[in-house]
Amino acid sequence: MEFSIFFRALKLEDAEFINSLRRIEEMENKIGGNKRFVALERETKWVNDLIMNDNPGFIYVAVCEKGSDAIIGYASITEIDYRNGRCYWGGIKLLPEKAGKGYGFQAALLLLKYVFEELRMERCAAEGLEEHTVGLKLMEKAGFKKEGLMRKHIYKNGEYKNNWLLSILKEEYEVLKKKYEI
Ligand SMILES: CC(C)(COP(=O)(O)OP(=O)(O)OC[C@H]1O[C@@H](n2cnc3c(N)ncnc32)[C@H](O)[C@@H]1OP(=O)(O)O)[C@@H](O)C(=O)NCCC(=O)NCCS
Repeated sequence: MEFSIFFRALKLEDAEFINSLRRIEEMENKIGGNKRFVALERETKWVNDLIMNDNPGFIYVAVCEKGSDAIIGYASITEIDYRNGRCYWGGIKLLPEKAGKGYGFQAALLLLKYVFEELRMERCAAEGLEEHTVGLKLMEKAGFKKEGLMRKHIYKNGEYKNNWLLSILKEEYEVLKKKYEI
């Protein structure tokens, strides 16, 4: 596959972009995280901690379009367990203007390539709200399989919501790798 995007390390100034995504109500409603008010100062501290600490348990990257270093989104892998070879898909967030161009899928492939070919994981798990059809379709297109529905897992917008638990294994990634020539 010819990728139009690439990953780079986060920079401190990316905090403003990351903070601005939090203020997109529609996006916040779809993702699994709880709603919080985060000041830019706190976001900056968080990004600074991500950049400066030596915790091997998670990875955050900025998503950029080829030819530019400007951030258009970010993605993460969390709870990396090197002993058992498993990790969590922290997710992908793109600027809404950049959605629908295939970038989300490309970012998913790049993330999985890193998970299985660099981190040497055996399994990557993910969660997605039952009602977030776009996110689930993206994950399933990227090879994730549903494992079970976690009932009433998230309390958000005045109600309990079900969350799908999904996963992709190394052998399933190998099929994806061949299919998309990544
Ligand atoms: C979810 C998100 C990453 C998708 O990125 P994107 O660049 O728009 O997605 P792509 O263009 O690569 O599409 C990938 C697949 O997602 C699905 N999809 C994307 N947009 C869709 C839409 N509006 N309606 C239905 N399905 C859609 C399709 O299955 C598509 O595959 P197809 O084109 O072969 O049908 C992006 O919309 C986003 O950042 N959303 C907010 C954060 C979020 O919800 N993150 C969770 C994702 S892990």
